[in-house]
Amino acid sequence: MSFEKNILITGGAGFIGTHLVKLLVNKYPNYHIINLDKLTYAGNLENLKSIENQANYTFIKGDILNQDLLQELFNTYQFDGVIHLAAESHVDRSITNPLSFLETNIIGTMCLLNAARAAWTNLDNKLFYHISTDEVYGSLGETGYFTEETPYDPRSPYSASKASSDHLVRAYYHTYNLPVIISNCSNNYGPYQFPEKLIPLMINNIKNNKPLPVYGDGNYTRDWLWVEDHAAAIDLIFQKGRVGETYNIGGNNERKNIELVHTLCNIMDELLQRPVGTSQELITFVKDRPGHDKRYAIDASKLKNELGWSPTVQPEEGLRRTAEWYLANADWLERVTSGTYEHYYEKQYGN
Ligand code: NAD
Ligand code: DAU
Repeated sequence: MSFEKNILITGGAGFIGTHLVKLLVNKYPNYHIINLDKLTYAGNLENLKSIENQANYTFIKGDILNQDLLQELFNTYQFDGVIHLAAESHVDRSITNPLSFLETNIIGTMCLLNAARAAWTNLDNKLFYHISTDEVYGSLGETGYFTEETPYDPRSPYSASKASSDHLVRAYYHTYNLPVIISNCSNNYGPYQFPEKLIPLMINNIKNNKPLPVYGDGNYTRDWLWVEDHAAAIDLIFQKGRVGETYNIGGNNERKNIELVHTLCNIMDELLQRPVGTSQELITFVKDRPGHDKRYAIDASKLKNELGWSPTVQPEEGLRRTAEWYLANADWLERVTSGTYEHYYEKQYGN
């Protein structure tokens, strides 16, 4: 079968990758979507059941650190584009085990860049699209926003590794003319997120009547984006973004952690038919995350003005949909947490 384009997605079995792969496979039957994923604790093929037998989809289990494998895949599939999501993504894990973050996020990205560079002797209509994070910009005070011009100031091993990978991607653009685009996105939420991240962790703990560990005083701000809105932005940027450019993506939806947890508690009380206030009693303030960034907020006006993208899902609706999904998919939650998963604080401080 011949396709108009062959697109390599890395990390397509993870949280954001799951939504992106499904979107692309369904929207572009004339594109062959090849999903390369190592299937770490964060990758789960079960997420992709609905598209796994589609003719324009291929899954390959493999590591982006395996240069030979990458070269072989580029030779076999003659990729026209790469959308690179594979990464170690959880800040707390980067604090306890930075090495795997440096390996996958920095060296892995470099291996992928090298493979593209070696295979793409003709650069016409090729694109290496690197998916990154707003955390590379560091931490904001009470006011202001991250723009594409904000200087990099990463504070955690995770964000330092992502910043480093962004720099490498830009270096390959300037040094070797590799056609690249980078986008830096704020906090995503929605179905299929591994329950180590704030929102699914809180939902899972409320369901199981376990303490809700709020770091520090809870007065830390994140800008939340519905994951399908992120996938739609990636699709748009991949199709219409300008080579060499960076695009910020954000939800325009700032919440202090403690406010967000209160909202979730109220939604969960209602869904679980518990008396109002029951879940809030589970809130436990715990020792702060080391180097905890105070506030993230994205100015996404470049993406809006150039390409016409805006978030579509309102926060309260998105949180309710997320809570409903996790309650309806208790077996998924059980399976992904039944491995070696331990919450950072359980491991560090035993609470
Ligand atoms: P995730 O942790 O849910 O998924 C990562 C995926 O990468 C998993 O499927 C995993 O198996 C795979 N992977 C890890 N190491 C690999 C390797 N060496 N080789 C091949 N595959 C490997 O992450 P996510 O939340 O879906 O994030 C995806 C990307 O988006 C990451 O690059 C992350 O930095 C970025 N990002 C995430 C958010 C967010 O809020 N989740 C926000 C902005 C940017
Ligand atoms: O901003 C984009 C980034 O968002 C992505 O690049 C990362 O991959 C993604 O993990 C996310 O990073 P955060 O550190 O912001 O997300 P996390 O869900 O771990 O934490 C969100 C906030 O909630 C943060 O201020 C820490 C706090 N928190 C988190 C957990 C897990 C708690 O208070 N308690 C918790 O148990």
